Amino acid sequence: MNVKLSGAKYSAIVAIGEEIKKLEKETGRKYLSLNRGVNAVVKINLNSIAQKLDYQTSEMQIYAPTTGMPLLKEAINNEYFANKTQKENIMVTGGGMHALNIVLQSLKLEKIYSHAMFWGAYSNIFKILNIKHNFYSRYEKLLENPEKYSNSAVIICDPNNPVGNKYPDEKLLNIVSVLEKHNATVIWDGPYRRLFNNKTDDIYKKLLQFKNVIITESFSKSIGLSGLRTGFIHTQNEELNKEIAVRILYSCNGVCAFSQILIEKLLSTDEGKQICEEFKEKTTTDIKKNIKYLKDKKLLAVEFYQKSTPVGIFVIVNKSSEQLLKKRIGSVPLNFFTKRTDIDVSNFSRICVSVPTEKFISFFENI
Ligand SMILES: Cc1ncc(COP(=O)(O)O)c(C=O)c1O
Repeated sequence: MNVKLSGAKYSAIVAIGEEIKKLEKETGRKYLSLNRGVNAVVKINLNSIAQKLDYQTSEMQIYAPTTGMPLLKEAINNEYFANKTQKENIMVTGGGMHALNIVLQSLKLEKIYSHAMFWGAYSNIFKILNIKHNFYSRYEKLLENPEKYSNSAVIICDPNNPVGNKYPDEKLLNIVSVLEKHNATVIWDGPYRRLFNNKTDDIYKKLLQFKNVIITESFSKSIGLSGLRTGFIHTQNEELNKEIAVRILYSCNGVCAFSQILIEKLLSTDEGKQICEEFKEKTTTDIKKNIKYLKDKKLLAVEFYQKSTPVGIFVIVNKSSEQLLKKRIGSVPLNFFTKRTDIDVSNFSRICVSVPTEKFISFFENI
């Protein structure tokens, strides 16, 4: 058998999780797994709404439309775009990773640029798809010679994974506008943003003025439903939409009907909206407290937050993963997320701050 090897690596973060489980078994002591990228302050409270679903319908049991259920698309249009886009521009995907992969498969690109601090999975997806990965060190750099990005794509991930920082929207919108004038495609991959915002957030509506922007979104982080594997792509490019539909069809034949129906109820019913608000409120309250605690203890790596605000769900701390592990805290070494050589990355780690504050402090107080 001749296997077509992509050279992409299986997630090393999964291996860290396995190592922590092993240590817990060996020592009989609990560890705090901040290496993970999931919200763990509370679980979203699905029971009441899930009990109201009717499972004996064709809608639930038979293939959902390839690019997503019309009712879910309507709910997404309402929630994210103030009803200002067309349902045809929204394609439901199997989460954010699937959305990115389908988009990148469908574009002819010279190169792709991500921030120098980037989600490790990007480089693996690019490797599988044979796309050249380049970096911008700061957002301002994109404005210095924007013509460089013509025929390429630029990813904007804000709040950023791994840094967990947020840049002002005006600044990001200005960059998008300059890039559009230079024929660059922008992939707006911000699955963390909506955890900190609700329907009043008008960024997606504002992005509709740019025809070169492709949005990839996910319900994994914003409402904590990574297990339902649902997200979406938004683009106003008709040709791209047609290609995306074909590629969704022949890669997964559409997305799970149960997940789509449940998410539609969360987005569009009063009860669902309240459940989402409650999840966001509880989660972001503890995230804020945890970041403040790290700042006060001088554990936050302030050099990464000079012109931006740390919001989570991740932050960078000025301790190595080995130092944290000695205190039974799981984290991810910063070199998993950057190729920067101007800083000694071995002194820093990424931690997830979306955990209950009391538990968080109980582990950090002896550092
Ligand atoms: C920046 C970024 N984009 C996309 C995703 C993918 O989200 P999903 O879990 O829905 O595949 C993640 C997940 O960690 C992420 O960090």
